[in-house]
Amino acid sequence: MCSETVHLPIVKTAVWPDEAATQGFAMMLASRPALRNAFIELRGDLGAGKTTLVRHLLRALGVQGRIKSPTYAVVESYELPGLAVWHFDFYRLQDPQEWEDAGFRDIFASPGLKLAEWPDKAAGHLPLADLVVQLAMLDDTARQVTLTAQTPNGLALIHQYDSYPPLMYKGQRPISLENTTTSANGASA
Ligand SMILES: Nc1ncnc2c1ncn2[C@@H]1O[C@H](COP(=O)(O)OP(=O)(O)O)[C@@H](O)[C@H]1O
Ligand SMILES: [Mg+2]
Repeated sequence: MCSETVHLPIVKTAVWPDEAATQGFAMMLASRPALRNAFIELRGDLGAGKTTLVRHLLRALGVQGRIKSPTYAVVESYELPGLAVWHFDFYRLQDPQEWEDAGFRDIFASPGLKLAEWPDKAAGHLPLADLVVQLAMLDDTARQVTLTAQTPNGLALIHQYDSYPPLMYKGQRPISLENTTTSANGASA
């Protein structure tokens, strides 16, 4: 077979009809080895589902207990076996000095998973994201999704994620984020 050249970025679109579909994507991401050292930007208006996607992803990775939105603290971090995760919400980032003082430069230089809501508020500081997830509200529960892989690692995250929805997720109720523990394989405890 001849070798293929992939030209980045690669853009894929999908419609997630309900939160179970969002969770399905999160579970797919959680299973990807490329996630172990990745930077993912989450874009979209307030209420689009950025934090919800991150919560489903963290649950799928094995985070237990309450998952706070980092809206006030700017960052929440998680130590999983063999994986450090940082969840940023840059909405309230004010002053460029805050970036240096808070040690964010060091975090982005460290291995692990970095997830960032409102990346535009930290523009100029952030490295190129491996993957950009853009969410737009279609109705109460449906989301138009645009996935942009900007690096080979980002491409590994969405490789073979081609068509959505697989029917198994349609109409299935999402596992509760608050009351249920979800193991790495997605089974509910
Ligand atoms: N398909 C979906 N994907 C993500 N969230 C959804 C979906 N359908 C409904 N929701 C709801 O929309 C809200 C999204 O809020 P949130 O994740 O805080 O948004 P953001 O972080 O983008 O401001 C949550 O209440 C979530 O339960
Ligand atoms: Mg949010």
